Amino acid sequence: MKPIEVAKGIYQVGAVDWNIRDFHGYSTYRGTTYNCYLIMDEKITLIDTVKKEFADEMLDNISQIVDPKRIDYVISNHTEMDHSGGLPRLMHKIGEDKPLFCSRMGQKNLSCHFEEKWNYRVVENGGELSLGKRNLVFLETRMLHWPDSMFTYIKEDKLLFSSDAFGQHYAGPEKFDDEIGEAIIPHALKYFANILLLYAPLILKLVDKVTEMGLVFNAICPDHGIIWRQDPNKIIKAYVEWSNQKPKRKAVVLYDTMWGSTGKMAEAIAAALREEGVDARPMHLRSCHRSDIMTEIIDAGAVIVGSPTINNGIFPTVGDFLTYMKGLKPQNKIGAAFCSYGWSGEAMEIINRELEGMKFELIDPGVKVQFVPHKEALEACYQFGRKIGQRLAVLEA
Ligand code: FEO
Repeated sequence: MKPIEVAKGIYQVGAVDWNIRDFHGYSTYRGTTYNCYLIMDEKITLIDTVKKEFADEMLDNISQIVDPKRIDYVISNHTEMDHSGGLPRLMHKIGEDKPLFCSRMGQKNLSCHFEEKWNYRVVENGGELSLGKRNLVFLETRMLHWPDSMFTYIKEDKLLFSSDAFGQHYAGPEKFDDEIGEAIIPHALKYFANILLLYAPLILKLVDKVTEMGLVFNAICPDHGIIWRQDPNKIIKAYVEWSNQKPKRKAVVLYDTMWGSTGKMAEAIAAALREEGVDARPMHLRSCHRSDIMTEIIDAGAVIVGSPTINNGIFPTVGDFLTYMKGLKPQNKIGAAFCSYGWSGEAMEIINRELEGMKFELIDPGVKVQFVPHKEALEACYQFGRKIGQRLAVLEA
C-alpha cells in the first residue's frame, strides 16, 4: 500500500487485509484495513500499528516517508491485537526504549499481551503531548472498544484518531468518505451493531462530552476502513441515532428448521406482519450470518425467534444466536417465540426466558405446533404476526 496523506505531514501507513472473511465471529465479506498514522513533526510519531502479519508492510509504508528508526514516539490507542500486533516488530526496529504512550489500562493490557519491558508513558484523560509544531490531546474512551481504549486529537489539524470507533470492516479502492459516499454507511452500521452496540449508552455520553468540549473535526481517522473527512459530523450523528435504538416498524423473524415446519411458521408470521405494514424479514440462521442478522436488528422493533425442539432444547444455531445477541444488549425490542416440536416442545419456553432476560417486551406466550403446521396452526401463526404488527404500530405512533 502507498501511504495515504490525510493532512499535510500526516499519513495513513497501515495495511489492507483483502481476504479476511471472519473477524472473531463477524463476517467480513469485504475484508478490512488496519489503519495506523504517521505524524511528521519535530517528534516523529506513530499512532497504533497493525495486525502482526502485516507489520513488515507497515514498516515498508513508513519507509516511503521516513526511516522508521527516526520515529520518536509511539502511541497505542487500543491494545487489541489488530492494532498492537505490530508493536514488537516496530519497537525492535525503532529502539525498544522509545516512549510508548497509552492509557493506564493500556499499559496494564499491553503488559499482559507482550513480555517486552517497553518504555511505557501513561497518559491521563485530557493529558497533552507536544510534538513540536503540533499538540496532541488524549481522551479516555473506556470500553470503546476495550477498557484501555482512548482517542488522540491533534489540536492544530483538528484531526481525531478514534481507534475502533467510527470504523468499518471494508477494504476497497476508496480511502475517504467523499470517494465512496453513502455506500460506506451499511458497513459502518454493521461494525456498530456487532462491535459497539453494547456500549451505546457510553457513546451517547461521549458525544455529549465532546460537544461540551467544543471539539471540531476536519477529519475522523478510525483504525478500520475509510477516513471521514468530507463530513465527519455525519458519522457522529449516525452513531447517536444508532445508539438511541428507536424501534422502527420492522421485525426480524429469525429461525432454524429441521424438516421445514418452523420455516413455514416463520413465513406465515412474516407475511402477517407485512400485511400490518411492518418491514418483516425471515432470516434462516444457516443462510444468514449472525453478524448480518444483528445488523438488521438494530432498528427493528421486534425480534421473533423460532426453533424446533431438539433433544428437549433449542436448535444449536438458535442457541448460538441468542448468546451472541444477549452479549450485544440490544434495547427497545418486542420479543416473541415460536416453535415446532415432536413430543416435548421445550424450545418456546427456553427462547421466551432468554428474551425476557434481555429485557425484551413479551406480548404473547408464542405459538407452538406439533410436527407439521397445517391450516389451523398457520392461522395461529398469522394471528400471532398480526398481534405483533399491531403492537409495533402503537409503539411507532
Ligand atoms: Fe479493531 Fe477492538 O480492535
